[in-house]
Amino acid sequence: MNARTSLTALAAAAALLASASAMAQGAKLKVGLMLPYTGTYAALGVAIENGFRLYLAEQGGKIGGREVEFSKVDDESDPAKATENVNKLIKRDGVDVLIGTVHSGVAMAMAKAAKDNNVLLIVPNAGADAVTGPMCGNNIYRSSFSNWQPGYATGEVMAKKGIKKAVTITWKYAAGDESVKGFKEAFEKGGGSVVKELTLPFPNVEFQALLTEIAAIKPDAVYTFFAGGGAVKFVKDYDAAGLKKSIPLYGSGFLTDGTLEAQGASADGLFTALHYGDSLDNAKDKSFRLAYAKTYKLQPDVYAVQGYDAAQILGIGLNAVKGDVSKKAEFAAAVEKAKIDSPRGAFTLSKAHNPVQDMYLRQVVGKENKVVGIASKSLADPARGCKS
Ligand code: BEZ
Repeated sequence: MNARTSLTALAAAAALLASASAMAQGAKLKVGLMLPYTGTYAALGVAIENGFRLYLAEQGGKIGGREVEFSKVDDESDPAKATENVNKLIKRDGVDVLIGTVHSGVAMAMAKAAKDNNVLLIVPNAGADAVTGPMCGNNIYRSSFSNWQPGYATGEVMAKKGIKKAVTITWKYAAGDESVKGFKEAFEKGGGSVVKELTLPFPNVEFQALLTEIAAIKPDAVYTFFAGGGAVKFVKDYDAAGLKKSIPLYGSGFLTDGTLEAQGASADGLFTALHYGDSLDNAKDKSFRLAYAKTYKLQPDVYAVQGYDAAQILGIGLNAVKGDVSKKAEFAAAVEKAKIDSPRGAFTLSKAHNPVQDMYLRQVVGKENKVVGIASKSLADPARGCKS
């Protein structure tokens, strides 16, 4: 054993002792919420926290037998501040578990910090493919999706509709790049071709020049990834530019989730694919939607579901280890064999801890993402070099 490995072993032993002593004293479970509360993804962060708190309330305020104490950081969806922000939760506040975040670039920094410090991390949105690939581990889980999944499902839908020539448009960062990659894979496999990939920097919403380019290219359809405030503006601008009538717009479902009030008639009729929708017919979704509407006077969206399911995953793991977060292998064993009773429909986690789940085809009807079919059944993320 060299000096570095013996230091790591000492740190792990100290963490075990600290965790056992905190448990013996009935210490609260410290949950660190690192989410965007400002910027284009602010509403997504709020919905995730709402969903998480709803599950906690249903459990009488305890997870794994422990009361919960929250620490919160607004990550502003800014990767440049991510390491400093996550260290506030890990080093300053000494959290037992990290819940976050929305933005893929920020989530990558969180996953690295979680790995380096052996802290439990549950990602309630960000789809960065690598989090449940090379970054995987028995302390890292995702309750949402990989960026590849909704992109791939939408590519299958568009190819099956006989669309041949598509343009893609998205923000230039991991979520946009990986979403387009998934889309292209399925679309090209189904006989389509992508004639132009347009991008703009995150969170820029100056779409006009790119919309003019789309009008000049005249593709059969457009595939897009935008979410939050940016998705609202894109859908309205696409309509205002007169493109909606002539060039059908498709997207991963973030384009129209949690955004319909603000998008109004501009979103009417749009087709998207996602792992949730507003008209699912299962008992869990019905009780979830009722409870959410009663508590928050709002309809839930996919982000609220993912927050709720992050808390469910934490509950399943912590119940198995009687609240002892240091027992990572036992926590993982319990979660890996669980069927998670989600409002989206029951799902399991892959070996790399990413949901294996149905992708629904949805169409906007009024203020709803109405489920009109299954785009991809039990869609599992491709293996991405997870060695655990
Ligand atoms: C992401 O950055 O991974 C992301 C952000 C919003 C919605 C979906 C994905």
